[in-house]
Amino acid sequence: MELAGKSIVLGVTGGIAAYKAAELVRLLVKEGASVQVVMSEAATHFVGPVTFQALSGRPVFTDQWDSRVDNNMAHIDLSRAADALLVAPASADFLAKLANGLADDLLTTLVLARDCPLLVAPAMNRQMWDNPATRRNVASLRGDGVLIVGPGCGDQACGESGLGRMLEAAEILDEMVAHFQPKLLAGKRVLLTAGPTFEAIDPVRGITNLSTGKMGYAISRAAREAGAAVTLISGPVCLPCPVGVRRIAVTSALQMHAAVHAQVADNDIFIAVAAVADYRPAQFVEQKIKKGLRAAAPTIELQQNPDILGEIAALPEPPLCVGFAAESENLAEYAESKRRSKKIPLIVGNLIGDGFGGDQNTLILFDDDGQHPLPPAAKIDLARQLVVRIAMLLEKR
Ligand code: C5P
Repeated sequence: MELAGKSIVLGVTGGIAAYKAAELVRLLVKEGASVQVVMSEAATHFVGPVTFQALSGRPVFTDQWDSRVDNNMAHIDLSRAADALLVAPASADFLAKLANGLADDLLTTLVLARDCPLLVAPAMNRQMWDNPATRRNVASLRGDGVLIVGPGCGDQACGESGLGRMLEAAEILDEMVAHFQPKLLAGKRVLLTAGPTFEAIDPVRGITNLSTGKMGYAISRAAREAGAAVTLISGPVCLPCPVGVRRIAVTSALQMHAAVHAQVADNDIFIAVAAVADYRPAQFVEQKIKKGLRAAAPTIELQQNPDILGEIAALPEPPLCVGFAAESENLAEYAESKRRSKKIPLIVGNLIGDGFGGDQNTLILFDDDGQHPLPPAAKIDLARQLVVRIAMLLEKR
């Protein structure tokens, strides 16, 4: 449970995205948070307080003059007990009030009276989001240290499409979890590769490696949670891009190679998690190869792909390079020899076993200080532990 022991006040303001806030409460509670919902009067027109009461297990506050709080200071009481305040959805009107310090109802008053971090997830029509007044308000909120989560891009309730829709509940949950992680890579830039590559033989066939991309995606999420600006160069996988991560999709090893070289400048860290195909077909056959047209089975001539990690590590001023070694035997020996031959400070070894492709993993980190085993755990937990070691090595550099 990612939010065990955390108290969160969730403010809901008036917008159709309020229906997504119900799901958000469920996800926050599932991760162990205690959630106190406070609604603006307008929000109650979209979703009834009873819904939030049922999902959070607590009565909902909507009224500044609520007599349930003994000293009649709900705005002070509620924010003092919280580890974070989250307002989702945050309407244009709410952002405007917040930016100007207005406090004319319970939610705006308690936000003004807070002594804990504030995250807001804007939700509005794309033109409202684009309006100079909203831009001004958002800019001054950022300047005030408010964390703006989203908005996302896509279809809107009004029938239009564009930037302004509230992020999905699961994405806001990830942002909340990220908020509580130590900022070990604040201000750093991280480039990663993840997933397999696909080397086309003809329009419908190809050579690839088994790789779900889960470990690489978990590391990009963990690096971003730690405060880094993250670029993820991903081979073909079926995973959503972690929030706040910039993803560049590629297919083949040569495309990955080109994308890494195009992006690597100014990065502090390069983490090569991808299972890059060592070879590609020497020739791409333009039309689908038909069986039965030849007497013998066709042969495919192969050509070696460039070693992306090896090349980056050999740059005159390389970023801190981290490699992966997935082995089916002799893990320590193979991993160490790869670390030496690629001249990289850190390699992450994992023994390919039953858990291959799953959500759990077991890793051993190899660096100049020796071996550091990371016992079986969820990939995101291992990714966070890896980030701790990378931050240590970066400090030592
Ligand atoms: O030498 P080997 O391919 O086993 O090393 C694995 C490590 O090298 C991984 O970090 C992988 O992402 C990286 N690699 C690469 N380019 C290749 C092959 C592997 O960056 N062509």
